[in-house]
Amino acid sequence: MKPSPQYDLTGKRVLVTGATSGIGAELARACAQRGATVGICGRRADRLEAVLAELVAHSPTSRGWVIDLAELDGIEAFARRVLDGLGGIDVLINNAGIPKRRTTMALTFDEIESVNRINYLSPIALTIALLPSLIEASGEIINISSVAARLSPPAEAAYAATKAAITAYSESMVVDLAVANINVGVHVVNPGVFDTELFTLPGNDPFSSPIEALPVAAIVEPVLGLLGTDQFEVYVPEWFGDVVGHKFPDTTAYLKGNIAYAKSQQPKQ
Ligand SMILES: NC(=O)c1ccc[n+]([C@@H]2O[C@H](COP(=O)([O-])OP(=O)(O)OC[C@H]3O[C@@H](n4cnc5c(N)ncnc54)[C@H](OP(=O)(O)O)[C@@H]3O)[C@@H](O)[C@H]2O)c1
Repeated sequence: MKPSPQYDLTGKRVLVTGATSGIGAELARACAQRGATVGICGRRADRLEAVLAELVAHSPTSRGWVIDLAELDGIEAFARRVLDGLGGIDVLINNAGIPKRRTTMALTFDEIESVNRINYLSPIALTIALLPSLIEASGEIINISSVAARLSPPAEAAYAATKAAITAYSESMVVDLAVANINVGVHVVNPGVFDTELFTLPGNDPFSSPIEALPVAAIVEPVLGLLGTDQFEVYVPEWFGDVVGHKFPDTTAYLKGNIAYAKSQQPKQ
């Protein structure tokens, strides 16, 4: 396992996927402010340009690419463009993702497939394509998962399953790399509720939360604090980790509580 020095981002080459808004944009800004050359991507060209303009003010060699990562056939070529553009890679932050708030009675297979493509298959494809360079650099991978991966949220089965998949993949990857004595850090971040566009995107049931959304600035230190450490994951806020700890000894009781809470939130007839 790796030691845990303060990770110095000066001169590091960082790719943040899905950095045209929200958590990804905030992480990209933070990395640029700390001296990294930052690559960002997303589908919205105007938003990409706006974020990139902020990055180059701190880190002039930063780069941006307009890409739809759900088109998996294009990921290898994208990875080559990233390596050419940044001159290699030290840190990969797989952040791009979409919600899918829909009950299992209403979900279609196409919806499930499309959310899997962007939330699960695209970060894995990108990780595979960039792994040789990350190994060369003794680099770091951070996968942005969700508390949904472990907390069985109502009406989010498709989304939660994609996040559980990336978490499970990451766990096994840590083991594989360590057994092979490969010095690449792999970490998972489990955000709770952050104030982003994720909750207003079309094609989803309405979102309501019993807890207040945090500003994206609150995720920067917990995420960047994982770099260069052997800490596998972080919950933001931390107390979500305690909820998970209570769930696993008795999942039946946990699910009963979840059902009771969800029913109490239904509109009265
Ligand atoms: N906000 C929360 O409370 C919360 C909680 C748990 C986990 N998360 C996770 O945090 C990550 C960031 O979400 P966010 O909350 O910051 O929401 P957001 O503001 O909607 O950001 C999502 C980012 O992903 C990009 N993206 C989506 N589909 C893409 C595609 N097909 N190809 C390329 N880029 C794509 C979006 O860019 P374009 O639209 O420009 O393509 C955008 O930059 C997601 O993985 C999400 O699941 C968020």
